Amino acid sequence: MMLKKIMPVSILLAACYTTAMAADASLPESLYQTHCASCHGQERLGLTGPALLPDNLGKLKKEEAFKLIRNGRVATQMQGFAGKLDDAQIQSLADYVFTQPDKQPDWGEADIRASRITYPSQHPGQDTPVFKADPLNLFLVVEAGDHHVSVLDGDSFAVIHRFPSRFSLHGGPKYDSTGRFVYFTSRDGWISKFDLYRLETVAEVRAGINARNAAISSDGKYLMVGNYLPNNLVVLDAQDLSLVKIIDATDGLGKSSRISAVYDAQPRKSFIAALKDSPEVWEISYGDTASAGFPIRRIRLETVLDDFFFDQDYALLLGASRKGQAQVIDLNQGKVVAKPELSGMPHLSSGIIWKYRDTNVLATPDLKEGVINILDMSTWAIIKKIKTDGPGFFMRSHENTPYAWTDVFFGEHKDVMHVIDKQSLEIVKSLRPAPGKTSSHVEFTRDGSHALVSIWEMDGAIVVYDSKTLEEVKRIPMKKPVGKYNVYNKINRSSGTSH
Ligand code: HEC
Repeated sequence: MMLKKIMPVSILLAACYTTAMAADASLPESLYQTHCASCHGQERLGLTGPALLPDNLGKLKKEEAFKLIRNGRVATQMQGFAGKLDDAQIQSLADYVFTQPDKQPDWGEADIRASRITYPSQHPGQDTPVFKADPLNLFLVVEAGDHHVSVLDGDSFAVIHRFPSRFSLHGGPKYDSTGRFVYFTSRDGWISKFDLYRLETVAEVRAGINARNAAISSDGKYLMVGNYLPNNLVVLDAQDLSLVKIIDATDGLGKSSRISAVYDAQPRKSFIAALKDSPEVWEISYGDTASAGFPIRRIRLETVLDDFFFDQDYALLLGASRKGQAQVIDLNQGKVVAKPELSGMPHLSSGIIWKYRDTNVLATPDLKEGVINILDMSTWAIIKKIKTDGPGFFMRSHENTPYAWTDVFFGEHKDVMHVIDKQSLEIVKSLRPAPGKTSSHVEFTRDGSHALVSIWEMDGAIVVYDSKTLEEVKRIPMKKPVGKYNVYNKINRSSGTSH
């Protein structure tokens, strides 16, 4: 009897085991290891393909991921899997890449050090530009469409060089104070140092798994990288990108947090970093004390800040909370000194400053309302709300032009660029560089004589305008040129652009 009973059980067990095995091969984990890991990494941290972790995927939607895995992405190594996998399997993979791994992946000292690559130079000893253009009037154009960077001559508007970047650059390239070297940060935490005189990459290192942005110290010695994953700041030697220090992002109460952004505050000889999951801003000195280990000064706030802006001498930090409440923080006193009454969702990081009558004003677009807020920086009162055709994203000007430019990034008028007179505070012209297509992100040439506008599409362009007559001068085809950065205006911290 006993035996009779036992037998079927073991047969049953064996049967279960085989079905479990069969099911296993179709589990998304196994499908992933078989079909995807060779390019995206066993732990989804990325190899030749990008990292496939929920936070890294960011703007990619699940439906898009399904289509992408099924059909592939044109002109990339990402081939479609329609012939190899059925729709249910593809759906399970699309869900899988949006699922957090069981164990939070780590990226420590050894990983950072092992990832570093230095490239031999094609022009050893060359310390002047290998081209004729004015090296301070170059623009780097980040083309997100096919992950390339173009080097554009700001006088002739000719592309003098174009090179592939890491997947999905973030936060804008950062120039050192001479304008010769530039540092790029990628979504997946790669830092690339590029020599603009020799037009070649010098070194690369992976500083994290998911990075936000980086800042270079004004003395050119250190690069600080702000990460979402792991929760830390990574200090690199700007010379060769070797690791100097990892600073865990733990707030004053012991809670771990992501870093939302880090900036160089040149006049203070410090980095300013903001925590994303805790109401804290840090000032990290690199002055004489760097050898003493980058001491952190914590400024505790009432709310988490999502977006920032500094005044020209970095005494004040303007931040907006997730709900849109703006705050002015005096960095010396370490406390909130004003709460400007901005409704909507101000986009402070694209705010710009100009002289207006006997004061300075700050102009900022709003991500939710079709309005540009003009604030008097001595009283923090709103002196004007300029109505626009819809919510905007970027705003730009230059010391040598009477106009400020702003886009209408969201809504049906996304193809409009408004030109605002900085003294009358009125819109004087609305341009439509490419009807029906998103136009955005203006940047000026070194002397302010020309404004460059992006047509933010895969078959996009940069449209160059004479900044006085507002007439189009040239149109240069580009693959989704999300941003362009003029060397001179950036290294001189023009008040008309972000830093
Ligand atoms: C031969 C290498 C390779 C293989 C194999 C591969 N991929 Fe990719 N994949 C890439 C590359 C390269 C990209 C980036 C394409 C680009 O430049 O936009 C990419 C992009 C993606 C993206 C979009 C990421 C983003 O942020 O836009 C997803 C999702 C993705 N792959 C999923 C998969 C899945 C799931 C598999 C397995 C079924 C797979 N891939 C197999 C190389 C590969």
